[in-house]
Amino acid sequence: MNILIKNVLTVLPESVETCSVYVSNGKIASIQNDGESQAIPENFKAGKIIDGTGKLLIPGLINAHTHAPMTLLRNCADDLLFDDWLFGKIMPLEEKLTGEDCYWATMFAMIEMISTGTTSFIDMYYFIDDMARAVSETGMRAVLSRGLSSDSDDPSYGETRLREALSAIETWKGHSHIDFMLAPHAPYTCDPGYLSEVALEAKHRKLGLNTHLSEGPVETVTIRERYDCTPTEMYENAGILKDTTLVAHCVQVTDNDIDILAKHGVHIITNPVSNLKLANGIAPVQKMLKAGINVALGTDGAASNNTLNMFRELGLLALIHKGVNRDALAITASEAFTIATKNGAKAMRRSDLGEIKTGNTADLVLLDLNRPNMQPTNNPFSSLAYSANGSEVETVIVGGRILMENREFQTIDVDKVYFEVSKICERIGTR
Ligand code: NI
Repeated sequence: MNILIKNVLTVLPESVETCSVYVSNGKIASIQNDGESQAIPENFKAGKIIDGTGKLLIPGLINAHTHAPMTLLRNCADDLLFDDWLFGKIMPLEEKLTGEDCYWATMFAMIEMISTGTTSFIDMYYFIDDMARAVSETGMRAVLSRGLSSDSDDPSYGETRLREALSAIETWKGHSHIDFMLAPHAPYTCDPGYLSEVALEAKHRKLGLNTHLSEGPVETVTIRERYDCTPTEMYENAGILKDTTLVAHCVQVTDNDIDILAKHGVHIITNPVSNLKLANGIAPVQKMLKAGINVALGTDGAASNNTLNMFRELGLLALIHKGVNRDALAITASEAFTIATKNGAKAMRRSDLGEIKTGNTADLVLLDLNRPNMQPTNNPFSSLAYSANGSEVETVIVGGRILMENREFQTIDVDKVYFEVSKICERIGTR
């Protein structure tokens, strides 16, 4: 369906202007603004006309690191130290989950993500086949990856998980809005030999890698004891640092680690809320950006955040680095917005996402500016980073398809999802 969004304040790559945006065949076909008019597509007949008066149009936010099904574990394991949280509470609950649970949990996560303006997410979890089914039905955009580890007495453990991942990837190959990566979980759950094997498989299949790195202080000590190096050096030695590799967190990295990550063109995904809540610290994002690293933004899972709301994440990103560096320019509002959109697209290796420009894929979000926290609209980037809380999101379009219109979901039965999620939580015992 062709969509025309008329007279809308639009965040363009270099400016914010009132425009009319034409969407055709899933792409942004034309943008007309006051100054320079682009051609209206020939034979353009709008199937839907949206009046953008009093609204702000932004490229969809990209949640570049999350674990969608962990929404089931929201608010059930809080105020704990990282190791107590992960090994004591989260992993025992996760052992009870089935593929069907992950289908419903992914649906549940997408309700929250769409309603707060996220159009794409990069995920690492289990049962990615069931997750892909949910993403496919919903119409959201996702990069899925099955968490891999070799941390078991069973020598075939890592191999089995890798085969599971490859089987799901084969099933969903060529899907219009689902991509895949391989996801070795972390330096402390994967041995170097296994990491090298996964890296080879990724190279062979032209897949990116999605992993955690230097999240907490215990990891630094563990890796030093095991290999006498930093987690980043261990990853470099295992050959998994590449320009198609995504590393989440990097809170505990040294200056030398940052140089190594920059040298290999690795993408870092920063997760400020999760790092604060699990008391892991604050990643040196300013240093990463200065080193030329592509830094994108993620919420991490809802068990350590406890939302998947990218507006809270980008607001905090813009704030905490000012505080710790005592530098009001550390990360500006517009830089934080770029990190949450264009840099996420780079991490996805998608040059057609993350910006509103002609020819790009139409992943678009409309926000209501007629809210007390959004008035007056003096600087739209300040509105987005410092004032918005996500509740302003009204309409969400992914690949030219409307997934939420005036806060009404078009592709998800919300009540049914809440009902199923409640049953799962009761069964696995999250309360
Ligand atoms: Ni994570």
